Amino acid sequence: MQSLAKQTNRAQQAIARCLEIARFSEDANGTCRTFLSAPMRDCHREVTRWLEPLGVDMRVDAAGNLRGLYPAEHPAAPRVIIGSHLDTVPNAGAYDGVLGVVIALSLLEALEGRKLPFAIEVVGFSEEEGVRFGVPFIGSRALVGRIDDALLRQEDANGISVRRAIEDFGLNPQEIPLARLDSDAVAYLEFHIEQGPVLEQLGQPLGVVEAIAGQSRLEFTFLGRANHAGTAPMHLRHDAFAGAAEWISAVERTAQTIAGSVATVGKIHVKPGATNVIPSEAHLTLDVRHDEDDIRLALVSSLIRRAEEISARRGLALRHRPLLDQKAVPMNDFLVREIEHAIKKTDCPVHRIVSGAGHDAMIMAGKIPAAMIFLRNPGGISHDPAESVAVEDVEKAIECGLHLLERLAASSEFLKRKSLA
Ligand code: GLV
Ligand code: MN
Ligand code: MN
Repeated sequence: MQSLAKQTNRAQQAIARCLEIARFSEDANGTCRTFLSAPMRDCHREVTRWLEPLGVDMRVDAAGNLRGLYPAEHPAAPRVIIGSHLDTVPNAGAYDGVLGVVIALSLLEALEGRKLPFAIEVVGFSEEEGVRFGVPFIGSRALVGRIDDALLRQEDANGISVRRAIEDFGLNPQEIPLARLDSDAVAYLEFHIEQGPVLEQLGQPLGVVEAIAGQSRLEFTFLGRANHAGTAPMHLRHDAFAGAAEWISAVERTAQTIAGSVATVGKIHVKPGATNVIPSEAHLTLDVRHDEDDIRLALVSSLIRRAEEISARRGLALRHRPLLDQKAVPMNDFLVREIEHAIKKTDCPVHRIVSGAGHDAMIMAGKIPAAMIFLRNPGGISHDPAESVAVEDVEKAIECGLHLLERLAASSEFLKRKSLA
């Protein structure tokens, strides 16, 4: 294992790199980097500049994922993928996603040119948050072959489709099938900040994810009638926004009554959008999560019924459509146990955790064994500029990653695995 000073330097450098990448933004006043936006190109350039000198073969696949292959000792060896996403939410912090990519880079640097009995592919996924098109995981879906025509037709707020965004970035949507995992891919590992307070409350730097909660995302439209805000009496209105507001309150109250569930209306757009006009349209998103799929689906159905009832009573029309129905996903048992051993070797206690946040690992787990290591997130704040991570914890994560690579390299059980990809 490397000297303490070297590890501290690597951790400091990882944090500095996250802060540097945070400057590549669509928004001059904060960090926002959505799918294949111009700052994503700058981000790719920077990460490439760090990886290439390590002998990593770089490319951007047709779904906009940045991919770098660090070769194995032997050409026919299996491949371990280590990655996370490079896109962000609006007004984001510096670490969600990016930290996982720069830790993968730190691990390769720490190998100091040594090759392992497996290749390591570093992946910076193009899209995990679902900000630009409402649909998350576009990057990882390409690796597991889950991009279909409906997704390519999905449009952003400016009417630009996913297909067009890919072409505008200079990529060819016809080549998306080439982004799929090859049969040599045997594992996916992702380092990520916890995005919650659990590890901090336990006083533990690292955690191992045992499962990731399922997610439903939907779009709702309440349709009413525009009219004059000064002349239409209250009992003769069909106010789409007022109907939506009643439903938003119901969403919050209902989720509060179901243990372990969370439901969020995170986005609303009202038309025509003038102080003196009764709103005729309210477009909203709904995000529902639970680690038991039956409970999540029952909650979504009850919220749809509630929206129908409110619309009928207020003389509104209602439209809704699903954007995502992602099942809860357990992480791979073997990898979880290996990570626990690696965490113990760093002298940190081991804690298993269920992730409420979605991650590329939940998509990758559909095709290959996947696992995640969480880093403590001071203050439990994420999806906000206050997001932070401690240098000592990044140091532990890199140390844990190196122990993990050593363990996997020495495991005949792991090296004989055949990919299901
Ligand atoms: C991704 O950050 C999510 O919404 O869970
Ligand atoms: Mn993330
Ligand atoms: Mn996120």
